Amino acid sequence: MNIDLWNPKSFAAGHPHAQYDWLRANDPVHFQAEPEGAGYWAVTRWQDVYDVDRNFQAFSSEPTIMIQDAPQQSTNFKGYKMMLMMDPPQHTAFRRLIRQEFTQPVSAGRVPRMQELARQIVDEVIEKGECDFVGQVAGEMPSYVIAELLGIPLDDGRELYKWTEAIHTTAGGTPTEEGMVAVFKMFEYGRKVIDEKRARPKDDLATKLLQAEVDGKKLDDMEFLLFFLLLVDAGGDTTRNLLSSGLLALLDNPDQHRWLMEDLPGRLGSAREELLRWCSPVIYMRRRATHDTELAGKKLKEGDKVVMYFGAANRDPAKFANADRLDLSRTPNEHIAFGTGPHGCLGQHIARIEIDAMLIEVLTRMKNVKLKEPPRWLPSNFISGPQVMPVTFTAAERLG
Ligand code: HEM
Repeated sequence: MNIDLWNPKSFAAGHPHAQYDWLRANDPVHFQAEPEGAGYWAVTRWQDVYDVDRNFQAFSSEPTIMIQDAPQQSTNFKGYKMMLMMDPPQHTAFRRLIRQEFTQPVSAGRVPRMQELARQIVDEVIEKGECDFVGQVAGEMPSYVIAELLGIPLDDGRELYKWTEAIHTTAGGTPTEEGMVAVFKMFEYGRKVIDEKRARPKDDLATKLLQAEVDGKKLDDMEFLLFFLLLVDAGGDTTRNLLSSGLLALLDNPDQHRWLMEDLPGRLGSAREELLRWCSPVIYMRRRATHDTELAGKKLKEGDKVVMYFGAANRDPAKFANADRLDLSRTPNEHIAFGTGPHGCLGQHIARIEIDAMLIEVLTRMKNVKLKEPPRWLPSNFISGPQVMPVTFTAAERLG
């Protein structure tokens, strides 16, 4: 088996499940070489991924969660870091600033608005009978939601989301020129948000962040900008990719699709969790060993890079019965698509609401949906999902 989890080409048609299967069975903590780097340990079994993600004392998120340590990359700004790349207790203090906005009850309050947005999004394409599902349907929801959360115009959310995609599209392991430009554009926009929210504070997350304090000190502009970048980045193409690759999974498994449609409201919960397990939009998060240690019999040295492959963990037969079968009725379903431990996805309640609202609209209104041509996948070894996915369906009337 030719193993190469570094090369984005391995992910050019979705997760490389044959490689994952071989690794879990034969070399679950595998040393993966990098063309320009020290190489890293690729972790593929569910239990090991779970243990690494929860053990921040042994496996640090600093200096970065990307495979490459490039100091100039979007994840490292003159000593400033995103919360995603901090360890407790610093991470805990930063996460405390925004976690209130993301709890289950607060997220649940957003359900009616998200349902309304989902209806509008499908209205925009429904009369045409065809569209690019990724750009015109799946991508619209997360960009609107992030705009609403931050208190910026919905159309600006779209633009931010395009930049996110450029940031996540890596050529090899390194960020592209286009990605770096996108980070600067994002900051430029973020600076306008700072001016606007300082001049006219509103009841939104951007205003709250600007007024919040860590250790008695307000966030400075760079700290705010990195929060801004993280929120736009984390909530954008993840949810989009789940919706697009989730629809693909249903088209590939018509029996499961039929089963779901027999009782959509009653079956949506387990179906959504199974689609998260199946699609795993985030391919990996990286850690750094803080001291010499052992993992699944391998001796790791202090400073070694350790990369958790969520899509591999989510197909581990030691954790999931018939792991290679899409089973929308699967319960319990302890997938790890949102990660776990101190960094476990903060937006997961919101993501679930977005996914449910969109699946209901898409599956009930876009009848006879079919692929018009094969989807083109995002060339990234970090985020998994189709980039373009032309579909046809039976045209119908708008509701709005
Ligand atoms: C299907 C959609 C999504 C998936 C699969 C996903 C997945 C993930 C994963 C794997 C992590 C890292 C967890 C770890 O290291 O253990 C993460 C972190 C994070 N996610 Fe999500 N995410 C999704 C949607 C969202 C949304 C909608 C938002 C915000 C609106 C969001 C905000 C965040 C934030 C802020 C973090 C960093 C948490 C921290 O460092 O403490 N995510 N997400």
